[in-house]
Amino acid sequence: MFSLPKNVTLIEVGPRDGLQNEKNNISTDSKLAYIHALQKAGIKEMELTSFVSPKWVPQMADADEIVRKAKKYGRQIVLTPNDKGVQTALQAGAQNIAVFVGVSNTFNQKNINRTTEEAVNALRPVIKRLKQQGHFVRACISTAFHCPYEGWIKPEQTIALCQQFIDMDVDELSVADTDGMANPVVSYSLFNSLKERFPHILITAHFHDTRKLGLTNIYASLQAGVDRFDTSAGGLGGCPFAPGATGNVATEDVLYLLESLDIHTGIDLQKVILAVDEVAPHLSRPITTAMYQLSKRKE
Ligand code: HMG
Ligand code: MG
Repeated sequence: MFSLPKNVTLIEVGPRDGLQNEKNNISTDSKLAYIHALQKAGIKEMELTSFVSPKWVPQMADADEIVRKAKKYGRQIVLTPNDKGVQTALQAGAQNIAVFVGVSNTFNQKNINRTTEEAVNALRPVIKRLKQQGHFVRACISTAFHCPYEGWIKPEQTIALCQQFIDMDVDELSVADTDGMANPVVSYSLFNSLKERFPHILITAHFHDTRKLGLTNIYASLQAGVDRFDTSAGGLGGCPFAPGATGNVATEDVLYLLESLDIHTGIDLQKVILAVDEVAPHLSRPITTAMYQLSKRKE
């Protein structure tokens, strides 16, 4: 038996990754109710929203209002791909910024209209300034395993992109299986390499559950020493520019796995279900996560 971490941090990405791909127009008040219910469940790190072009992702057009109105609690992160988004986010009062770039050029062209190199070069001075101003910076590395357009990505390519962000002194790498193609073997292998290579930085795994391997990938990553996971209450999510990708691995299902392994998160599973209840009526699709469905059967 491998030794597993005793404590794990879940970074809730439901309000951002979860809702960015939603077809229904969800009101700002409904999003805030979801965020506040998640806070009540004990979630202390959360991606609240993203500052991106509303023409590209209309669902995130109220980012400014979300940041201004969300109750301050724990580490609240906003996602953005460029300096314009960073400026607007800081004006709204955001303190913790996540930037994102894929390893794959084609994915970046589709997602942010830039090549990998163009995106990284543009972010370098932005991150430098953020760090000088004392902000927390998280770098989200998309298509770390596989790209929906280019196919499998070599681990060396992902590690090389991570190294570029380490050189920019980011605080956290969130390494993403964007289209849910990873399996436990490649998950263990990549995260083992990243933990060995970058021992002094927060390393987070971000799994989309397209092929229902999210929990097994998390178990494999725990064995590699990963103690931070991006998850989405209700299993919502998906990138509009990653065709076929479905939601993130669900917070409530991951909590059940972690509790069964005696791993502490400080998050109350039943209260996460209540948070899902807040958002579920506004969504265009039913919630199909195991723990959510079981909770309804008991009622
Ligand atoms: P572009 O068209 O090349 O941008 O899009 P541009 O610089 O030429 O500007 C065009 C217009 O967008 C201008 O407005 C800009 O002001 C505006 P106009 O003059 O036409 O009215 N603009 C912005 N507006 C608001 N916020 C901004 C911003 N920047 C420019 N930050 C751009 C380039 C990057 C803007 C666009 O491609 C975009 O917004 N892409 C976002 C795509 C996205 O949000 N994808 C999902 C998030 S990533 C993800 O989900 C993956 C992750 O979960 C990890 C994983 O699972 O892999 C993190
Ligand atoms: Mg994602």
